[in-house]
Amino acid sequence: MAIIETKDLTKIYKLGRNKEVVGLNKVNLNIEEGEIFGILGPNGSGKTTCLKLLLGILFPTSGEVKIMGKDQFDVGMKMNIGFLPENPYYYDYLTGPELLKFYGKLFSLSPSTIRKRTEELLELVKLSDAKRLTLKHYSKGMLERIGLAASLINDPKILILDEPTTGLDPIGCKETRDLLLELKKQGKTILLSSHFLSEVERICDRIAIFHRGNLLTVGNLEGLLAKYNTETLEELFVKAIEEFDSKNVKGDTNEKSLGNST
Ligand SMILES: Nc1ncnc2c1ncn2[C@@H]1O[C@H](COP(=O)(O)OP(=O)(O)OP(=O)(O)O)[C@@H](O)[C@H]1O
Ligand SMILES: [Mg+2]
Repeated sequence: MAIIETKDLTKIYKLGRNKEVVGLNKVNLNIEEGEIFGILGPNGSGKTTCLKLLLGILFPTSGEVKIMGKDQFDVGMKMNIGFLPENPYYYDYLTGPELLKFYGKLFSLSPSTIRKRTEELLELVKLSDAKRLTLKHYSKGMLERIGLAASLINDPKILILDEPTTGLDPIGCKETRDLLLELKKQGKTILLSSHFLSEVERICDRIAIFHRGNLLTVGNLEGLLAKYNTETLEELFVKAIEEFDSKNVKGDTNEKSLGNST
């Protein structure tokens, strides 16, 4: 059964009176329980828009979202989701355990649950030795890992990660990858967005390619390579985008002028 489902999910951003930007255009997704699902796409293709619509941070212009059978504004359902935003901002002067406590309180967890989860999560993200260090002194990799730990504080069934490996060195990327595979083993469903084809290729069970707010194609790597008659994900990515652009209006952005310029 699909744990996340969208039906013709659409977001049009209004820019002033006469301009619109297509953030997401009639996207139909079905994400199965227990899979790692990767959303790939160039800058501005709608990845973050899609994730924010699923989380209920953005309101759709039209279409539907169902998560575990509930719509995205169901507060109870939110307890089952962990989210790591694209550019998280954390208070510099908190330590890792203090940050996790802050997030634990947001989920109204009891102090003893917070203490227990903090120990487990710091162990999981390999930050147990840095308990007294403030985030100000964390490396990018450490910040990414504490962010992941924070998104897991409520032991969510679904983890939504917006570009979890951006800015990380190869070791940091591998650590994140291993961590995500471990979380999958624990039964979590993981939805992530990325620019990094090789990352996605290595860990995702299925891949969706977005471009200009459109879902171009979705499937497992083998199936997609066969469908596009290509040998690598990179070739397939470029081919899918070129095919779409050749059939659609060209231009650098998703902006549409609504004609009437008064
Ligand atoms: N708040 C907003 N107001 C107006 N337009 C927006 C807004 N947020 C996003 N957009 C536009 O919607 C489109 C999709 O943006 P989105 O941020 O979802 O893309 P993305 O795939 O996450 O890009 P990136 O890889 O750069 O993170 C882009 O054209 C973007 O300019
Ligand atoms: Mg984005």
